[in-house]
Amino acid sequence: MKKILITRRLLRSCEDKAKETFDANFNLNDELYSQQKLIELSKGCDGILSSLTDKLDAVTINKLPDTIKIISNFAVGFGNIDLEAAKSRGIAVTNTPEVLTDATAEIGVLLILGACRRASEGIASAREGGWKWSADYLIGKQLTGTRLGVLGMGRIGQKIAKIAKSLGMIIHYHNRSKLSDDKDQGATYHDTLKGLLSVSDVLSICCPASKETVDMINKETIEYLPKGAVVTNVARGDIVDDEAMIDALERRKIYAVGLDVYKNEPNLNPGYLKHKSAFILPHLGSATKDTRTAMANLAIDNIDEYFSTGNCKNKVN
Ligand code: GLV
Repeated sequence: MKKILITRRLLRSCEDKAKETFDANFNLNDELYSQQKLIELSKGCDGILSSLTDKLDAVTINKLPDTIKIISNFAVGFGNIDLEAAKSRGIAVTNTPEVLTDATAEIGVLLILGACRRASEGIASAREGGWKWSADYLIGKQLTGTRLGVLGMGRIGQKIAKIAKSLGMIIHYHNRSKLSDDKDQGATYHDTLKGLLSVSDVLSICCPASKETVDMINKETIEYLPKGAVVTNVARGDIVDDEAMIDALERRKIYAVGLDVYKNEPNLNPGYLKHKSAFILPHLGSATKDTRTAMANLAIDNIDEYFSTGNCKNKVN
């Protein structure tokens, strides 16, 4: 049996599966391992089942024991892992695509609705009590007829676009290339970021974090958005320059933000907390029982597939 370090707790049925499949080393207290501890605990292991909270940068990867052959990330995103460093050490990196598309898209749509319809303010008022209904009380932005810009029309972006279209939104997107007609569902393609932003009354950030996308939404690019645009992010916090976004909220250039992901999670920029128009969630994208079960099972299967065939369809490096 292969010896696998599982860095965070999984749902019980998935830990049972891991026990049957591997000689598994569990993190019973679900502590956040430091990089040093990850290196130490990897000794004698054949692989690591990591989570997005593990920072497997080049320095850490270079110190992993030679026995480690795979890092199976329990996430679709893999910005927490230096793919090149892993590759040069002959370590395969895998992710868990597809199984979390629907759950994450649901949160993506919740961010759009929550930010546009002032859900944070509404929840706070309802809890405080004493609010008074009036014709102009907590007036928000209606989605019907509003243009949605999808930045990154991958699986999650496509699902958000599909739901948003059913809500009467008009869909635009930017990707490296135009999608086939069945995938873009009649959405308008923009071959530049500027082109997309300039028509996005609501922006949904769905692209992966990479060297190319870090701080892609910044002081300069925010200005391409229409005045009073809404920005939502269901992908990764690294894509947004927080200081620039908070400044844009302050100037009312941006009407509201809907965020599920942040730089330096869980320590989000406190500037967001000052803004009632920030609808914020604690990285809940894939947080349903079915999805987390499917993700963990896939992360386990990825390791199994890699050791039994020497390859894995979800290998990303
Ligand atoms: C969640 O954020 C994931 O990448 O799976």
